[in-house]
Amino acid sequence: MTKHRGFGIDIGGSGIKGAYVDLQTGEFATDRYRIPTPQPATPEAVADTVAELVAHFEVPSSVPIGIDFPAPIIHGVAPMIANLDPSWKGLNVEDLFTKHLDRPVRVVNDADAAGYAEVHYGAAAGRDGLVMVLTLGTGIGSVLVMDGVLVPNTELGHVELDGRDAESYASSGVFERDNLGWEEWAKRLQRYFSHMEMLFSPEVFIVGGGISKKSKKFLPLIETRAPIIPAELQNTAGIVGSALLAAEAAGEFTLDRGTKKRIKKARKEIRAAKKKAKEKVKNAAKAS
Ligand code: BGC
Repeated sequence: MTKHRGFGIDIGGSGIKGAYVDLQTGEFATDRYRIPTPQPATPEAVADTVAELVAHFEVPSSVPIGIDFPAPIIHGVAPMIANLDPSWKGLNVEDLFTKHLDRPVRVVNDADAAGYAEVHYGAAAGRDGLVMVLTLGTGIGSVLVMDGVLVPNTELGHVELDGRDAESYASSGVFERDNLGWEEWAKRLQRYFSHMEMLFSPEVFIVGGGISKKSKKFLPLIETRAPIIPAELQNTAGIVGSALLAAEAAGEFTLDRGTKKRIKKARKEIRAAKKKAKEKVKNAAKAS
């Protein structure tokens, strides 16, 4: 196991997914494995599923495990929960998983993990200043990263907008549920992004979440002073970011803050090494 490998787990409402991560490049080092989220998604049931996932990969206890979770996580505790079973409220999530996995783990907010990955390996790699990542899904997740340093648990999906919880008005969950057209939804997003820009003046907005694959349909309809760009890592971001945060917290790894160029170079080198290794195996098979 190299020092550059981490392991990340993403806990979502419909699936719990995990993979080894190459921390130099932010790419998966293995295939991702997914188990459907148990219903009801109670703490015990989810912890059992997470343990099953870790057993599937036979993750040795020397590898720090990062887990992302759809709630703010303050010193291990989820003080509130919007989109998962209400029994998580007030629970020490980090203790629960540590017990089930029989090793220390790091639990972080799902958006924080995804946004951190975007800043270090994706759409904002190497970017200084204040980066604001907003993930659009069932809820709205928010992330602030300043000069590469995460400001955790911002929960800006729950700001009040025109007397409503913003995510209940502008999330992609609402867009799908209410069959809003792109333009109608973009108007709501405009209202939300303008509010965020007025409050925080970020250098750049990054938009993540599954719907960001279709960003061409709605991002051009939103006007902000700061550039607004789609996330690059798509559905790997949560796993990659939680693996990186766990490895950093364990003192196992320090990412030399990359520019896009550095990451591209590292990816190229790794691909070339993999190709070489494959050819070696092929030639050896031919020779025998
Ligand atoms: C939760 C956040 C989470 C976001 C995206 C919100 O409802 O409060 O903690 O990051 O949804 O899952």
